[in-house]
Amino acid sequence: MRRKFVAGNWKMHGSLAANEALLRALLAGLGNGYAAEVCVCAPFPYLAQCASLLAGSRIAWGAQNASQHDHGAYTGEVSAAMLREFGCRHVIVGHSERRALYGETDGLVAEKVSAVLAQSLVPILCVGERLEERESGVAEQVIGHQLDAVLSHCGIGAFAGLVVAYEPVWAIGTGRTATPEQAQAVHAFIRGRIAAHDAAIAQALVIQYGGSVKPGNAAQLFAQPDIDGGLIGGASLVAEDFIEIVRAAA
Ligand code: 13P
Repeated sequence: MRRKFVAGNWKMHGSLAANEALLRALLAGLGNGYAAEVCVCAPFPYLAQCASLLAGSRIAWGAQNASQHDHGAYTGEVSAAMLREFGCRHVIVGHSERRALYGETDGLVAEKVSAVLAQSLVPILCVGERLEERESGVAEQVIGHQLDAVLSHCGIGAFAGLVVAYEPVWAIGTGRTATPEQAQAVHAFIRGRIAAHDAAIAQALVIQYGGSVKPGNAAQLFAQPDIDGGLIGGASLVAEDFIEIVRAAA
């Protein structure tokens, strides 16, 4: 039985004051009355704040990126070992915004997965197709390549230590969610791709859906057999919305 996992991706939003209000509202609002695993992925400078406000709670915190390198002359980069020192449990890797805006390739993403796993942190590996790829019928091919890059660089064993987030690019921040059926079909494809290598690892793999998840659509998405929770952008910045989404992952 896979656990449901809901993670917030704050992206480049927040401030000390806004984060404190949000985290206090989450702690108070969620209490212990929820079944899912929960994480918030904050910008790097706020990880210490997350560590101090969330310590001892059931809410984990994580980062949105990490370097593929352990240390060295890489100005502006942050290593997985550094994230671990701040108590991070998860690291988002290969988000479509990083692939599109910062040129992260399938190969680089695979190296980052490996660096994060080496620090015993859990990568949230993002995969997903762009609108034109869906419309031209190559969505599965694109996602297959994204997964295969990690399989060939890290091996199937990596999938026992990571979470996959299926985020169709056309659904991110657009208000246009994949239907539960569309999302389920891709989640089943992803699980099948992993199952071809190791059925037990595939069965245990947590696959989140991300892309305009809101309180109004979360329960239907999370009810699909291969959707194991969500990676939430905009709605993770609104305490009541994020709480409702977490509760929908019962
Ligand atoms: P939205 O929930 O704002 O569409 O963002 C999804 C996302 O990119 C999470 O990583």
